[in-house]
Amino acid sequence: MTARFPVARPRRLRRTPALRRLVAETRLAPADLILPMFVKEGVAEPQPIASMPGVYQHTRESLRKAAHDAAEAGVGGIILFGIPAAKDGVGSAADDPAGIVQAAVRDLVSDLGDSTVIMTDLCLDEFTDHGHCGILTPSGEIDNDATLERYASIAVAQAEAGVAVVAPSGMMDGQVGAIRTALDEAGHPDVAIMAYSAKYASAFYGPFRDAAECAPRFGDRSSHQQDPANADEALREVLLDLDEGADVVMVKPAGPYLDVVRRVRDTVQVPVAAYQVSGEYSMIEAAAANGWLDRERTVMESLTAIRRAGADIILTYYAAEVARVLRG
Ligand code: PBG
Repeated sequence: MTARFPVARPRRLRRTPALRRLVAETRLAPADLILPMFVKEGVAEPQPIASMPGVYQHTRESLRKAAHDAAEAGVGGIILFGIPAAKDGVGSAADDPAGIVQAAVRDLVSDLGDSTVIMTDLCLDEFTDHGHCGILTPSGEIDNDATLERYASIAVAQAEAGVAVVAPSGMMDGQVGAIRTALDEAGHPDVAIMAYSAKYASAFYGPFRDAAECAPRFGDRSSHQQDPANADEALREVLLDLDEGADVVMVKPAGPYLDVVRRVRDTVQVPVAAYQVSGEYSMIEAAAANGWLDRERTVMESLTAIRRAGADIILTYYAAEVARVLRG
């Protein structure tokens, strides 16, 4: 059938893979992706994480190998989470120069040099025996300002180990400013801060708490993480963090908060990161394992959507795998 007048035909540009590639508005590249990795002290073998198939709590040795492979695949960065052998009320292992994160950072910096960016999560929940992100008062509340002093000290320990970027994830008020000041005073003005600025109190962190062994023993994180109902508040948090010296701001989780990613991207002039968290990963893995979703297509679509919403950088457990696919 011939149209009698010119008809808009958007399908013309969808006809072949080459045409679709030519007009794609959003592209993923290995350098946009950051791989979160777990390293556990005192284990002889990498430990699989039941709720995150394919993700491991690494030994120092297995971390080196996996990080090398990820760097070779071209990932933009690696962010480290540590699980210490011993925990206590103040998370002493977090800023111990011999602590697991500092040891692993030294390994990776010496192995990988500048081939990728080595980063550290900066929080206390993996290191405290109560599993909270900060120091507790006698009545069991989080003491914001006492916690800031701990974060400052952890930042300096991580910087001395050689990390390029620290990523405070505890959502304490004033954490970015406290860390910036401590880094500068300790002679580390070049260490950058990627702030978990809009971090929601999310059920999607469930599997991570197995991975990092940091489920709170009592209570939850709603007094410091954001209410999923709020988006204006995320912008306030982002602007505060920029005022305090953040170099990169992050929205977390990613997929359920794409509107927030877009609003942040339209508001700031620094790189915006989004974290596709453990629960987003586990949902795809579980559905794919059941044959309910096409795993590869779902992974690529989920990451493309996060980029399209405006994230410049994506933290994802798929980083190394997808970087390899993108390299072809
Ligand atoms: C806190 C931290 C958490 C995650 C990253 N940093 C857990 C939490 O806030 O409870 C979650 C990451 C994920 O779910 O993949 N150190």
